[in-house]
Order: sequence, then C-alpha cells, then structure tokens
Amino acid sequence: MLLRVSRAGLEPGEPGQFFMLSPPGRVLPRPMSLCLALPGELGFLLDPIGPGTRALAALETGDELDVLGPLGNGFRLDVERPLLVGGGIGIAPLPYLAERLGGAPALLGFRSAEHAEAAALLPGAEVVVEPEYVTERLEPGHGVLACGPEPMLRAVAALAPGAQLAWEAPMACGYGACYGCAVEIGGTLRRLCVEGPVLAAADVAAPLAREEAA
Ligand SMILES: Cc1cc2nc3c(=O)[nH]c(=O)nc-3n(C[C@H](O)[C@H](O)[C@H](O)COP(=O)(O)OP(=O)(O)OC[C@H]3O[C@@H](n4cnc5c(N)ncnc54)[C@H](O)[C@@H]3O)c2cc1C
Ligand code: FES
Repeated sequence: MLLRVSRAGLEPGEPGQFFMLSPPGRVLPRPMSLCLALPGELGFLLDPIGPGTRALAALETGDELDVLGPLGNGFRLDVERPLLVGGGIGIAPLPYLAERLGGAPALLGFRSAEHAEAAALLPGAEVVVEPEYVTERLEPGHGVLACGPEPMLRAVAALAPGAQLAWEAPMACGYGACYGCAVEIGGTLRRLCVEGPVLAAADVAAPLAREEAA
C-alpha cells in the first residue's frame, strides 16, 4: 500500500535515501525509502510484514506521524544508460529515482502476479514473475541501479559489477548512533545507515556481517 504523508517542511532528498517513520505504539521507528515525491506530500510504499509496518498501514487520514529524514546516501544520478532493477518491495525507491532521472527503463521482478500489481508505479516497466528472475533478462551495457532482496542484489552484482545497490539491514536509529545496522563493507564493519543504504556493488563482494553470524 502507498502511505502518503504531508511534507510539513521535509525535503524529499535524493532517490535511495530513506526516512525513519515512527509507527504509533512502537518504540522504534522503521526505515522506509521514499517512493514518490508528490506535491506537498511524500509517498512510501509499504509491505505490512510485521507489527511496525502494519501499524503504519493502519494509519488514517489526519493521524499524526513522526518522520525523520532524508537519511543515508542515495543513488548517484550521473549514470550512462541507466537501468532500474527492482525486486518485490525493493521497487519502492524506483519511481522517485525514475522521476529524477527524467525517465529510465525498468526491469522488475515479483514473487507472484498479485505482488506484481505494484509495477503500476513504474509505467512501461518490463515485469517478470517467478520462476523467472530479473537476472535472466539483464543485458550488459547499462548503468544498473538496483533495490531488492539480498539474493537478487548479489546476483545483479555478479552480472553488473558497476551497479549501485540499495541494501537493507535492521535499523534502530537511522543516523549512526546505535550500530544496529553494522554490516561488512569493503572488508570493514560499517554502519549501513551512514555509508549506505546505496553502495557500489564492488564494496559488498564480501558477505554482509549478519549473514556470516547466522
Ligand atoms: C533503508 C531501508 C529502506 C526500506 N524501505 C522500505 C520500503 O520502502 N518499504 C517497506 O515496506 N519496507 C522497507 N524497508 C524494510 C522495513 O523497514 C521493514 O520491513 C520494517 O522495519 C519491518 O518492521 P515490522 O515491525 O513491520 O516487522 P518486524 O517484526 O520488525 O520484522 C518482520 C520480519 O522482517 C525482518 N526484518 C525487519 N526489518 C528488516 C530489514 N531491514 N532487513 C532484513 N530483515 C528485516 C525481521 O527480522 C522479521 O523476520 C526498508 C528497510 C531499510 C533498511
Ligand atoms: S541504524 Fe543506528 S547506527 Fe545505523
């Protein structure tokens, strides 16, 4: 679902940056990529997978919401032949990215036809549904900007080593104070909320730290 929030002085920032949204009744805010920069509003694409996202999805018109951002580092926009690649809820930052690039082709992958309905946010996008994967359609020669689940990002990085990838990690503060989002970047433990969430594919060739711990 799309959550539309009054801008109330907030800037949309760069595509790929994120905002911390404080769901009513939850202690910690939840990170969300900006999906749409609408006139006077910010739009967030929500996958209600747990208590925080469900509380956000249950907000009604006129309810108050604490929002902090924009935070982190977004996508570089100086890319030749950009191609947007998204998987599942990872398509969230791509509509604003497409707008800022002045339009760009998009390749989107979804688990099911029902999930693929979100592709309507990127008119003209090429859409694949499992068992087909976006990586089967990825052709060389593009500046790839991608967001999606970790296995998809790793597969994209292998095919497009120059890609920019937007990663996820659990985040408690969003601005560098808690170290809850520490992942291995370029061989060192770094905070994804400060260094990312968008990283160069080459910087994440090593497994993310929390994967190693699992
Ligand atoms: C930079 C960034 C941008 C994001 N943008 C969006 C967005 O635009 N739209 C959207 O719907 N979601 C987005 N997410 C993910 C979203 O923040 C989480 O789904 C949300 O915090 C889950 O909270 P919850 O209380 O609903 O569920 P929880 O109960 O906290 O989590 C449910 C399940 O998901 C796992 N999980 C939760 N958060 C993460 C995470 N960040 N990485 C990996 N696993 C996780 C938990 O371990 C648990 O298994 C983003 C995350 C990050 C870091
Ligand atoms: S979320 Fe707190 S340091 Fe990154």
